[in-house]
Amino acid sequence: MARRQTIFTCQECGATSPKWLGRCPDCNSWGSVVEELRDTGTSGRQASPAPEPVPLTAIPDDKTRRIKSGFPEFDQVLGGGMVPGSVILLGGDPGVGKSTLILQILMSIAESGTRVLYVTAEESIRQIRMRARRTGTENENLLVMAATDISGIADAVANTEPEVLVLDSVQTLHHPDISSASGSISQVRQIAADAVSLAKSRDMTVWLIGHVTKDGALAGPRALEHLVDTVLYFEGETSLNHRIIRAVKNRYGSTNEIAIFEMTEQGLVEVTDPSSLFLPSPGRRAPGSTIVMGLEGTRSLLVEVQALVSDTPFPNPRRTTSGLDMAKVLLILAVLDKRAGIQNSGLDVFVNVAGGLRLTEPAADLGIALALVSSIREIPIPENTVFAGELGLSGEVRSVVRLEHRLREAARLGFTRAVIPASGSGKIPEVSGISVIPVDTIEDALETAFS
Ligand code: TYD
Ligand code: MG
Repeated sequence: MARRQTIFTCQECGATSPKWLGRCPDCNSWGSVVEELRDTGTSGRQASPAPEPVPLTAIPDDKTRRIKSGFPEFDQVLGGGMVPGSVILLGGDPGVGKSTLILQILMSIAESGTRVLYVTAEESIRQIRMRARRTGTENENLLVMAATDISGIADAVANTEPEVLVLDSVQTLHHPDISSASGSISQVRQIAADAVSLAKSRDMTVWLIGHVTKDGALAGPRALEHLVDTVLYFEGETSLNHRIIRAVKNRYGSTNEIAIFEMTEQGLVEVTDPSSLFLPSPGRRAPGSTIVMGLEGTRSLLVEVQALVSDTPFPNPRRTTSGLDMAKVLLILAVLDKRAGIQNSGLDVFVNVAGGLRLTEPAADLGIALALVSSIREIPIPENTVFAGELGLSGEVRSVVRLEHRLREAARLGFTRAVIPASGSGKIPEVSGISVIPVDTIEDALETAFS
């Protein structure tokens, strides 16, 4: 006999308790605990027989089979394509283009003769048809189904036997055995658990599409990430056309890999030469602009940093950043003040990373510092010059990882001078077409950069 039990679940963190509480004892959020009914299964259920242990070497090794998405760079983010039997969570803000991307991927798989099933719980199947027409192609191997109840989906999967299943979105589907509303943490968790068992039992790739909440977390924050094999985030300013996909967890590949797309009238197009997207057009550079040799995952990416420093009309100077950590900029300002004698306490400081990108790695420090000084002195940095180096608190310039890789990308894009750290164990890499200027301290860097 199945028993139904009342439990109280925190919608923020998923903690459960047998009675209602005004404040969750686990995550301390107020008013987040709601009552739910849950099936506890049959009492006195027979334990299922345990499978026999097998030697590792006797397990078939089918590492070669990967389903390609039709976007080569995106396959790289997945670690070479989709692994059959894996569950991939694709999160992003509403309107960023998740449904568009997944539809284009499904279309490409369908065209290679593989059957795929797209379950939409947000839109009608006519809307899907309209979107498909907009992105160009149509194929009968792509099956579409509008459903909000997860329990009917298993039957549809059994009947149609797709190799790839998409659930769009995990927050709008619901399981009938759980009384709370769609999108609640118990529902979302249940949908994900069902998706995992479907994927593993049928050796089918399942995509879960998820919306991120205002504070940037996938609804049901940590509750989903450990259940799935791969977590991808789709980022992008809706005002800009380019979008970035980032792997934050991947059981079948490395994380931190990105792929860049551009949203066009005909859907998403992969950007194969991203550096050119984030660089200013050639010509005399304005004071306050520098080019940083950045790294995104294993990809080298040249990025423009822009600083504007001016006298403040206010008693307290303002400091704002976009695409950069404010604490980092404040630290660099302090290092400039103390170690290079560049006084900046009475100045408004604005620093941006062009193109809506985020620069988080320490190798950007030197470029940020030079952008600031260039703006303070009103002297532009020569157009052919790029930077990489971490700034220490005593003003020393520290080594960065994968310097040769960065230099190659800069040389490819026509830069001829790179200011880089002199320190570091290995010898300074030589890359044809670009001359390097090794510097030990921020003072050295200031001396050479403007010449
Ligand atoms: P959508 O995939 O519906 O976003 P999500 O599923 O993440 O909520 O895409 C939303 C936006 O993309 C929408 O504002 C329209 C735009 N778009 C294009 O610019 N070109 C296209 O070809 C398509 C299909 C959508
Ligand atoms: Mg959508």
